[in-house]
Amino acid sequence: MERLVGTTEREEDRVLETSLRPRTLDEYIGQDRVKDNLRIVIEAARARGEALDHVLLYGPPGLGKTTLAQIIATEMGVSLRITSGPAIERAGDLVSILTNLKAGDVLFIDEVHRLNRQVEEVLYSAMEDYAVDIIIGKGPSARSMRISLPRFTLVGATTRYALLSAPLRDRFGAIERLDFYDERAMLDIMRRSARILAVALDEAGAGELARRARGTPRVANRLLKRVRDYAQVRAGGAITHAVAREALARLAVDDLGLDESDRRVLLAIIDKFDGGPVGIATLAAATNEEVDAIMDVYEPYLIQLGFLQRTPRGRVATRRAYGHLHRPYTGAVAARAAEQTSFLDGPEFGSPGDDDPEDGRPREPR
Ligand code: ADE
Repeated sequence: MERLVGTTEREEDRVLETSLRPRTLDEYIGQDRVKDNLRIVIEAARARGEALDHVLLYGPPGLGKTTLAQIIATEMGVSLRITSGPAIERAGDLVSILTNLKAGDVLFIDEVHRLNRQVEEVLYSAMEDYAVDIIIGKGPSARSMRISLPRFTLVGATTRYALLSAPLRDRFGAIERLDFYDERAMLDIMRRSARILAVALDEAGAGELARRARGTPRVANRLLKRVRDYAQVRAGGAITHAVAREALARLAVDDLGLDESDRRVLLAIIDKFDGGPVGIATLAAATNEEVDAIMDVYEPYLIQLGFLQRTPRGRVATRRAYGHLHRPYTGAVAARAAEQTSFLDGPEFGSPGDDDPEDGRPREPR
């Protein structure tokens, strides 16, 4: 089932987002720290007439990593080439992309943690030396040839900082983490999107939408579009508080923006595993979800709300989650496990609990 509040990009988002997407840093709402840092490196590189240093953007999906890559290219006055880790299958694919770039161009690689080893190794020398070594011929007559590349800027994006190898991480000059947007930024984004889409949205309606959009602009814009449809067909066109509430109730998006899938994950922990701790692989099996979907899409927001914790022994539903789901709190075991979590609750998104032995994947030695 496709989720209305899901953060996976869809075709309609791409169409929608092209019109709603901010084109400059000044138009970009929220993420003030990231914006400030980018402004500085961009201005410095421009003043020196150099290509921008490589930039890594990480954080939950839907927060604007691709948008920022586009803005970086625009602000630098260069072209942008967009690809993704899984799309670059062979080293030759990457070499062909790289040799076709012009000096200063931005290459955006989404899901950069999913590059395969051979491709990643080519990327190292490309990023560091602006050159790649290719092997020509086979067997005894094979020889290596060095091709130099234009000075380009790699903008890498990942939802899983912890899965990035150290050598790759070390080659980025700027590393920026995107966080969920606060409510004020979400409100501003709602108002801006409504203005661009020419839909009447009053303050209370905007507040309701902003509160339920999971701190995620992609979700905000998608909800706005669906609620606009409802308003147009059933409510005379304007999105008021009542209209927003009614439309969102029909879409099964609750007061905090949780949908059926989020509730299913939390309820599985509460009802099937006594509140946890439960390992991620077990939780995935119990909910019929992919481990990656739980880790990238559901958990970050549930953790942000304080509904779920990653502990050394697995996932735990908090007292708050019980309250929200109207379950009497019985999580004594959970509370004890949670007390041991502090070392996993570090600030780095994507790292806490990624080392969960049950995350279903062997760690690749690098
Ligand atoms: N639309 C989507 N994300 C946005 C952002 N960060 N600022 C302004 N408009 C947006």
